[in-house]
Amino acid sequence: MKQIISFIITLCFSLVTFQSYAEKGVEALSPELRILLSKEMLSLQEGMKAIFPAYISGDWHEISHIALKMKNSYILKQSLTNAQRHELHSTLPDAFLKQDQQFHYLAGMLSHAADMEKLELVGFYYSELTNSCVSCHSQFALHRFPALNSKLTPHKH
Ligand code: HEC
Repeated sequence: MKQIISFIITLCFSLVTFQSYAEKGVEALSPELRILLSKEMLSLQEGMKAIFPAYISGDWHEISHIALKMKNSYILKQSLTNAQRHELHSTLPDAFLKQDQQFHYLAGMLSHAADMEKLELVGFYYSELTNSCVSCHSQFALHRFPALNSKLTPHKH
């Protein structure tokens, strides 16, 4: 019994440590990159909002265009200086970069589904994309969205 309790305590402790490590990744970025990241996030949010009316009216071309822009515009793809690129890759944990890749993949798939005029697939990838925002935020943006600190968040990749 004692062993189980101590195992659980150790587990909690390492989760907390992992959490603060994950958090520090983003918060340790230079102010310039933090600003870029924040701008990028706000434009992603604008993109998601703009897709909604296009989706419910079947404006495939618009959906495809916005999704492609979201896919290509993310901070890790912007024209950063070499030093900034190095800073991003050395500061952010691998899991963050994985989430970023997943996000790119989904944005590309959404654009593709719109090109094929597949209504159901567009709905599917729109929802997957939303999950990927929440999934990354609940791991790496808890300082910004503390309410996402719950075990009930959508699946994590
Ligand atoms: C790979 C991780 C990741 C993904 C994917 C991601 N975000 Fe974020 N987002 C962050 C982080 C980290 C922050 C906090 C940035 C900071 O504190 O500097 C953030 C912050 C934000 C903010 C607040 C920006 C501000 O400064 O007010 C918005 C809005 C936002 N994200 C929208 C989105 C939307 C919409 C999506 C999905 C389409 C998305 N994000 C996908 C990591 C991510």
